[in-house]
Amino acid sequence: MTTAKSVLITGATRGLGENLARQFASRGYRLALTGRKQADLDRLAAELAGKSPGIVVETLDVTDYGSIAPVIERCAERLGGLDIIVVNAGVAFVTPVGKGHLDLVRQTIDVNLTGAIATAEAAVELFRRQGHGQVVGISSIAGVRGMRNNGVYCATKAGFSRYLEALRLETRRHSIVVTDLAPGYIDTELNRAIPNRPFVVTAEKGTRIMVDLIERKVSFRYVPPWPWTLVAQVLKWLPDSVIAKM
Ligand SMILES: NC(=O)c1ccc[n+]([C@@H]2O[C@H](COP(=O)([O-])OP(=O)(O)OC[C@H]3O[C@@H](n4cnc5c(N)ncnc54)[C@H](OP(=O)(O)O)[C@@H]3O)[C@@H](O)[C@H]2O)c1
Repeated sequence: MTTAKSVLITGATRGLGENLARQFASRGYRLALTGRKQADLDRLAAELAGKSPGIVVETLDVTDYGSIAPVIERCAERLGGLDIIVVNAGVAFVTPVGKGHLDLVRQTIDVNLTGAIATAEAAVELFRRQGHGQVVGISSIAGVRGMRNNGVYCATKAGFSRYLEALRLETRRHSIVVTDLAPGYIDTELNRAIPNRPFVVTAEKGTRIMVDLIERKVSFRYVPPWPWTLVAQVLKWLPDSVIAKM
């Protein structure tokens, strides 16, 4: 008898996290739903109860760094191990430089970089003990190039991608897979205030593609791969004078 695979998701209360949970549930995965808001996690767990063979819910704020490993351990115990941990929780604020936004700058680093890395660290500890596992990081096309008013968001996503690269090198011999997914625009609250969202896709479509890529155990992909793989190459080569107008 084969047991259903299990996946833990951070920031599962809405957006990509919530839709990833729906996708994984529809493919028969057991779920560990984590996030800051118990009521939203309970609502999602109730919705998916008939689809997933097992769901556990744990509140987790990824800036409460000391609580990450215990939450992961509890979920692993309750589900009999974890196969995949999706490091998804993230924030995006408009932070033009030199305009007194240090508080938002620090919050962005605390969640997107320190919180994300702390989650990946705890995941690897568990996976080394288990002898297998897949860490999935959600970075961004924003990591390719620094953009106006989003410097710290771009920096955290670029930084997280470089961290995941190093993680992949360090865990090669431990049967641990590291997948970095870098979305372009997927329709969620994170980007709804942006007037122009080129090539935007629905959260349902974006997360379906993400779960396909996770199941294929890719190392790195833009999401959707087309057209963002090409767009990323163009962005790398465009002069500052063009990027400054975006
Ligand atoms: N949507 C896109 O086009 C896009 C593109 C590139 C990258 N991404 C990345 O994808 C990830 C998900 O984004 P999204 O589009 O789903 O954004 P979203 O709709 O704003 O959802 C963000 C999620 O992260 C959670 N979160 C924020 N701070 C947290 C914390 N300290 N601890 C735990 N959870 C926290 C939120 O929980 P609360 O409900 O408690 O606030 C929410 O569940 C982020 O890392 C984002 O940078 C998204």
